[in-house]
Amino acid sequence: MKKNKNVIIFSDSHDWHSNQLKKELKKLNCNVSCLSLDDCFIDTKRKKNIFIPGYKNNLPDGCIIRTIGKGTFQQITRRLTILHALKKLRVVLFNDINCIEKSTDKSMTTFLLSHKKINTPDTWVPEKIKIAKNILKKLNKEKNYAIWKPLFGSQGKGIKVIKNKKLKLNKEKVFYLQKFENKKIKSKDTWQDFRILVCNKKIIASMIRENKKKITNIGQGAKPLSFRINKEIKKISIRASKLVNASYAGIDIIKDINGNFKVIEINSVPAWKTLQKLTKKNIASILVKEFLTKIK
Ligand SMILES: Nc1ncnc2c1ncn2[C@@H]1O[C@H](COP(=O)(O)OP(=O)(O)O)[C@@H](O)[C@H]1O
Ligand SMILES: [Mg+2]
Repeated sequence: MKKNKNVIIFSDSHDWHSNQLKKELKKLNCNVSCLSLDDCFIDTKRKKNIFIPGYKNNLPDGCIIRTIGKGTFQQITRRLTILHALKKLRVVLFNDINCIEKSTDKSMTTFLLSHKKINTPDTWVPEKIKIAKNILKKLNKEKNYAIWKPLFGSQGKGIKVIKNKKLKLNKEKVFYLQKFENKKIKSKDTWQDFRILVCNKKIIASMIRENKKKITNIGQGAKPLSFRINKEIKKISIRASKLVNASYAGIDIIKDINGNFKVIEINSVPAWKTLQKLTKKNIASILVKEFLTKIK
């Protein structure tokens, strides 16, 4: 008889998504523990050199990483090290730590997208405010403007649309500046973008997010709309997920004024609560099954 799999869900705030995953994992006879990465630490006195609550001399078969959690630079680095250590110890990570790192840093995602010639808006990421101002000046001259995003942001938090050269130094001292390329839906006076959930290189669910504001995250008040996905979006979403080797990913896409689809973000820890309302598929079940195929 096959042994039951030992699985950890990592999050600093176990939410609906953790519960959904836990429920589906249990249906498949997994032993599940919900932990936070700050529960684990490097401990060279232990057989595996790592302390994980509930694990003495053994290791989990796999971990689903839902959040790394907020923290200082050292705390985040330490938590990422735990994940790198687990990978080294051949524990299956969902998503893999390399995928999470590549997609969490928006400048890295942008570089990789552009490097692989996957359509993405023009982007500059300087540290010097003088250079940032010159970039904005140039955009303004061409009657364009920019969107300034935090490097590690999510849910549209901290994003600023910058129409003129007024740029204040923030404490991070990094300017992730991207050409604002979305097109207003004039008939509805709204802004839209697309969120596509990909798992194992297949489209699982998709939605349009529509908002009165330019920033169309659900967390910013956008409403989800069902739509029939076209070949182009399908292709670009799958290419984006493959780019970072994502087992599953939420791909954000905008349609520019020329009608071209452009990838703006790859989420390696995507939410699917809203998408779940638009589909009959059991998303958590699909994700968990894919995760378990990776465990030998
Ligand atoms: N280059 C862009 N042009 C126009 N709108 C954009 C652009 N980039 C992002 N947005 C808007 O801002 C939202 C959040 O951007 P995103 O890069 O996905 O960051 P977050 O991690 O905060 O979700 C998008 O859903 C979209 O509505
Ligand atoms: Mg996004």
